[in-house]
Amino acid sequence: MSKIYIFTGKGGVGKSSIAAAHAIKSALEGERTILVSTDMAHNLGDIFEVNPEKEPLKVMENLDIYEIDPEYVMEHDFQDIASCVSNMLSEVQSNDWSDIGLAPGMEELFSLLKISEMQKEGIYDRIIVDCAPTGETLSLLKFPELLSWYMEKLFPIGKLAIRLLSPISKAAFRIELPNKRAMNDIERLYIKLQELQELFKDRDTTSIRIVTTPEKMVVEETKRNYLYMNLYNYNVDGLYINRVLPRDINNPFFSQWLQIQEKYINQLYESFGMLPIYTIPWYEEELKGQMAINRMAKEVLKESDIFEIKTIHEREVFTKNEKGYLLDVALPGANKKEMDLYQSRTDIVIKLKNFKRNIPLPNILRNYLITSAKLEEGVLRIQFEKGEETDE
Ligand SMILES: Nc1ncnc2c1ncn2[C@@H]1O[C@H](COP(=O)(O)OP(=O)(O)OP(=O)(O)O)[C@@H](O)[C@H]1O
Ligand SMILES: [Mg+2]
Repeated sequence: MSKIYIFTGKGGVGKSSIAAAHAIKSALEGERTILVSTDMAHNLGDIFEVNPEKEPLKVMENLDIYEIDPEYVMEHDFQDIASCVSNMLSEVQSNDWSDIGLAPGMEELFSLLKISEMQKEGIYDRIIVDCAPTGETLSLLKFPELLSWYMEKLFPIGKLAIRLLSPISKAAFRIELPNKRAMNDIERLYIKLQELQELFKDRDTTSIRIVTTPEKMVVEETKRNYLYMNLYNYNVDGLYINRVLPRDINNPFFSQWLQIQEKYINQLYESFGMLPIYTIPWYEEELKGQMAINRMAKEVLKESDIFEIKTIHEREVFTKNEKGYLLDVALPGANKKEMDLYQSRTDIVIKLKNFKRNIPLPNILRNYLITSAKLEEGVLRIQFEKGEETDE
């Protein structure tokens, strides 16, 4: 089965270059590798100085590059799902979208579906994904979770059979339930989204690598990105600090830059000490062409275990204690003031600014209530104690 490596980070930090360097290194190791770009502003063709078509293109032994065109993929590979989505959207058009915002772009969904299909086919040993920048667009990985959330909000199906519930739902949520055919589509799409989440959160299969540079704004966004990745329980197992100036530059012009970089490199080590950290020098020239990228692959990505998917820390650990159960959720960098916590019968909901995550409660905790929640050194510790018995 293929392993998936996803490179994410702020605009311009070097995601494409570093992803490409990994792809070359992987191919040279003899692993069948594909480098996939999900960024609508593709540039793999520029890096490898070729003109990619709409299908994967071989650029060297063991290496294909592939700039995903979501529209093409949708028409060629996922017409059924595309019709689910469009049925769903036409069903909800009469509902009021204004209070939940607009449905985010579908590009991410089709790119993810394509990657998941390639992963299942197993033609490649390694799938290396170069993402669109964070911060500007919705991050690729938040998409399946967000879409499930929209769907739950629009069609409160929960994970149960909808038809059974429909008379109640209609009254309780004051929405028109879609007709049966559309409902089947929605259920299918829902299942697909769950599968996508499982694949991209599977800690044995998918590794998320964050690329950063040692400067203020980038470091801040990197911390936020990492926090949200943890909130959604993705396996971030590597940080790349790119464009690091050589220490021995003897040029007064750079001395201040060196100090600034040092300050932010220290900050990055403080915040990301638990991750493997890789440092990449600032090259004197633009990294264009396979030769330049090859240089990075050879000179810098030297660790023999760079493709090993590492387990950094267990997340969402339930432990039994004298009061009941304790749930630990690792949220490094989270700020108490920006966090909200709710409990429903089936889930707990953690909200961080605009991001929201539902963590399903194990059955055994359905009759337990949250009695305290503390944020201690980047871990949210939620205490559950037995509440009143309910006969639900
Ligand atoms: N270590 C480096 N030294 C010198 N130039 C670099 C380095 N890393 C990246 N570059 C150059 O910086 C520019 C941006 O790099 P790249 O395209 O890899 O970033 P990106 O994060 O993928 O950007 P985007 O967010 O636009 O997709 C490119 O011109 C690249 O050649
Ligand atoms: Mg890029």
